[in-house]
Amino acid sequence: MTEGKITDLAVYDNKMLEETVLIEFNRQIGKDTWLMGFRSADLASLAKPGQFLMIHLDRNTKDPLLRRPFSIHRIQDRNQLMILYKIVGKGTLLLSSLKEGDPISVIGPLGNGFTISGPHERTLLIAGGMGIAPLFFLAQALNKVQKHTIKMFLGFSTSQEVVLVDQLKGLNIDLSLTTEDGSLGIKGLVTDLLDEYLRQELNKKPVIYACGPTLMLKKVAQMAITSNLRCYVSLEGYMACGLGICQGCAVKAGNSKDKPYYYVCQDGPVFSSEMIDWRAM
Ligand SMILES: Cc1cc2nc3c(=O)[nH]c(=O)nc-3n(C[C@H](O)[C@H](O)[C@H](O)COP(=O)(O)OP(=O)(O)OC[C@H]3O[C@@H](n4cnc5c(N)ncnc54)[C@H](O)[C@@H]3O)c2cc1C
Ligand code: FES
Repeated sequence: MTEGKITDLAVYDNKMLEETVLIEFNRQIGKDTWLMGFRSADLASLAKPGQFLMIHLDRNTKDPLLRRPFSIHRIQDRNQLMILYKIVGKGTLLLSSLKEGDPISVIGPLGNGFTISGPHERTLLIAGGMGIAPLFFLAQALNKVQKHTIKMFLGFSTSQEVVLVDQLKGLNIDLSLTTEDGSLGIKGLVTDLLDEYLRQELNKKPVIYACGPTLMLKKVAQMAITSNLRCYVSLEGYMACGLGICQGCAVKAGNSKDKPYYYVCQDGPVFSSEMIDWRAM
């Protein structure tokens, strides 16, 4: 199938579009984990790693409460975008029922995205579960500016949840896989690997990019702050409007005197680790 027909296109500003795209594929790739692809040259040309899309989940209703945020997981052939998602409730279950050729309404790209500040001696990506979704796109982009191999710690609860290992290795990534139950890879948590890594590589001042469950991010951020390392975390907390209107995504600021809260959808979802008050998370 070629590029999806654009049935509706409204430009809110020069960086964000609302577009109805046609699903090119929507397939299960792991336990409750799905990969969906669609084409939009406009969205693909604007998208940066770490940004997200608000996707409407049901073509039979215009109910705005049925939009959900999903990270831009991958861009391929310049105009194909992919999202990687896990079924956790009503919306994601609806999403998994959509078929090739079905239209979906997409708003994006939203949020700030990751800061890619030139080549570093060491770059470490840390992903927990679906946290791999935005980090894959980031790895694609980092590969274009980094001369050295990117290191990644990727963690899941159990082997049935493990996805994308071969594709990540194809991106020239030095991958260490963990599962909490030890059914695949190293038994334990990605933060155990980080602990070990920092003991050996701290003097190389690695730059850390992390996405995953809040508890994982909290630990990664605290370790980075203690070690005085640059660390960017992408928060995937609850979001309603995704557009800075409902204030439902506020997180307490850690170091800002004039801004007590950040809104994840507008100020984030990516934050430098010291920007967040982790005691409140
Ligand atoms: C910026 C951003 C990017 C995201 N990117 C991705 C992605 O790439 N892939 C992906 O699978 N998910 C991603 N998420 C999370 C995704 O948006 C939620 O899983 C989804 O909205 C759940 O919708 P639902 O209707 O299926 O679940 P609901 O019916 O709304 O909730 C079902 C259950 O899931 C829990 N839940 C809902 N949202 C979240 C959340 N954000 N974090 C933890 N638990 C939640 C609820 O507490 C409830 O127990 C992202 C979230 C944000 C804010
Ligand atoms: S989700 Fe509504 S303000 Fe952020």
